[in-house]
Amino acid sequence: DKLDEEKHMKTLYAVIGNPIGHSMSPVMHNDLFSLYHIDASYLPFQVQEDDLQTAVKGLKALGVGGFNLTVPYKSKIIPFLDEVDELAASIGAVNTVVNDGGKLIGYNTDGVGFLRGLNVLMSSLKGKNVLIIGAGGAARAIYFTLAKENPQVIDITNRTITKAESLIEACPYPISSNAYSLDAAEKNLALYDVIIQTTLIGMSPKAFEQPLTLNGMKPGTIVCDIIYNPLETQFLQKARQNGGKTQNGIEMFVFQGALAFEKWTGIFPDVERMRETIFTQLGGQHVNR
Ligand code: ATR
Repeated sequence: DKLDEEKHMKTLYAVIGNPIGHSMSPVMHNDLFSLYHIDASYLPFQVQEDDLQTAVKGLKALGVGGFNLTVPYKSKIIPFLDEVDELAASIGAVNTVVNDGGKLIGYNTDGVGFLRGLNVLMSSLKGKNVLIIGAGGAARAIYFTLAKENPQVIDITNRTITKAESLIEACPYPISSNAYSLDAAEKNLALYDVIIQTTLIGMSPKAFEQPLTLNGMKPGTIVCDIIYNPLETQFLQKARQNGGKTQNGIEMFVFQGALAFEKWTGIFPDVERMRETIFTQLGGQHVNR
């Protein structure tokens, strides 16, 4: 009968972006669905901006289990959702949508994904001094999420200092923060326990650039770059040579995916397996883990 038919229907999951061809999410999630014997498929869709609302309506009509958003739709999706959770609303970006019985609910797992990755190196941020480099969308998700973890300070440095100032003003959680120019931050790197690089500098075509030099950092500083291709940016290489404990963007990517998977299925997946899936996809390099 009809109920039985529904029970045996494969569930669709998706990622929407433009471009979308290089997304590693489909392989990562499909591997997990098969590992946990969940009858579902995760597909990438390249959607034009003018078609975003139609695409979302279509996915809803098709009974999608949920979907991810990537560049350039994390903010643009919001008007087309039925509900947005508090953290995602404050960040102003949604990367994960859950179809809850016909209601599309938006979440942001990027910031918490970064935090969970950082927790692999450092169990608590309480009392720590943190520097974020960059003031774009990724910085915003990370900043608002870390602000809730009771660090001593989270400073922001950016090429355009006014953008760092606006970000600090926009933070809805109580946190002590200052905005610095890249030059000023460079001179005070020894103040920080954690330095987080969130700009595109270090990725092709800027693979041989870095947003600031790390000469002044103290050994033992945790230095993260959210870029994962290349696995080790110039910035991370310098950090490692200066005695830093480094982490690339694989951790954030894997944990944002793990948190999305958990929202969809109730299962927090095997992140070590997810790392392996990603390394295999990136060509089997095992650099700087
Ligand atoms: P994302 O959503 O990935 O964070 P974004 O919102 O476009 O991307 O933000 C890009 C970040 O990279 C910004 O902090 C930007 O600095 P500006 O605010 O001054 O634009 C930074 N960025 C990009 N190109 C840069 C460059 N050549 N030098 C320094 N910073 C750069």
